[in-house]
Amino acid sequence: MRAPAKINLHLGVGAPRPDGFHPLVTVYQAVGLYDDVTVEPSPGWTLGVSVPEWIDADAVPVTGANIVDRAARLLAAHHGVEAHAGVSVAKAIPVAGGMAGGSADAAAALVALDRLWELQTPDDDLLRLAAELGSDVPFALLGGTALGTGRGELVEPVPDPATWWWVVVPSTEGLSTPAVYRRFDELAPDAPDEPAGAGTLLQALESGDPEVLAGALHNDLEGPALDLRPDLADVLEEGEEAGALRGMLSGSGPTCLFLAESADAAREVAGALAARHEVVLVTHGPVAGAHVVTYG
Ligand code: C5P
Repeated sequence: MRAPAKINLHLGVGAPRPDGFHPLVTVYQAVGLYDDVTVEPSPGWTLGVSVPEWIDADAVPVTGANIVDRAARLLAAHHGVEAHAGVSVAKAIPVAGGMAGGSADAAAALVALDRLWELQTPDDDLLRLAAELGSDVPFALLGGTALGTGRGELVEPVPDPATWWWVVVPSTEGLSTPAVYRRFDELAPDAPDEPAGAGTLLQALESGDPEVLAGALHNDLEGPALDLRPDLADVLEEGEEAGALRGMLSGSGPTCLFLAESADAAREVAGALAARHEVVLVTHGPVAGAHVVTYG
């Protein structure tokens, strides 16, 4: 199974709910950076993770504490079967980067193990299990472009007819999502219960015009994330100076994201950023959610 990274084109955050989670109105877009999850029959449970040289292997949670272990246990418990499988995860989505790489792995593992164990879990059940694993795991199943509400786990597809080009600059050090939400609470103690709506962004998507989209991008977690990592403001500025229509943080960061006018413009911006940054990726969205690459 292959599962995509996500970015948030709109991320409106409200005051924390009684359960501690924040109400969100978000627009997710799946982009063409993927983690691959391979499963095979095994008498017990094994999980191996491989990373490209630019990802710090120590940053990936070890076997037993990885979200893929939790996904397997949850699916097995739901059906009363043994969680036996040999699983390997090949990562290419930045770790702890605000691109939901762990959520992509969990979504891919749910679907792959459902097939391996011949469980035929209905889609609604898979989405519910996904939501238990993390707020943005249901979106990783769905892919494309979707409106996310609740704590981000309630997803519905929205029209997004164009292809958008993005330049992605991962950070060598991750940022903890809970820490960014805590900083949000400190900086916005009077945040409204209702998060900022996504109407402008949804209209911008339908326009198909990158300049219109650039003006509509919105991320309420950018302020708190930049407060924790002021160095990232310079990266955002560099990308905009290099010709990006707009730079913003991906979700809770620290990955920096740049919207470009076209594929060629994205490559140009990436070329300029590569002089100062070891890893600069060019990608596009929307793309499909978790899907089978080979089967049988
Ligand atoms: O749901 P997930 O496990 O991805 O969330 C990680 C953490 O991010 C939560 O424990 C919480 O601190 C924070 N979070 C939040 N509100 C959300 C989503 C996540 O406060 N809507």
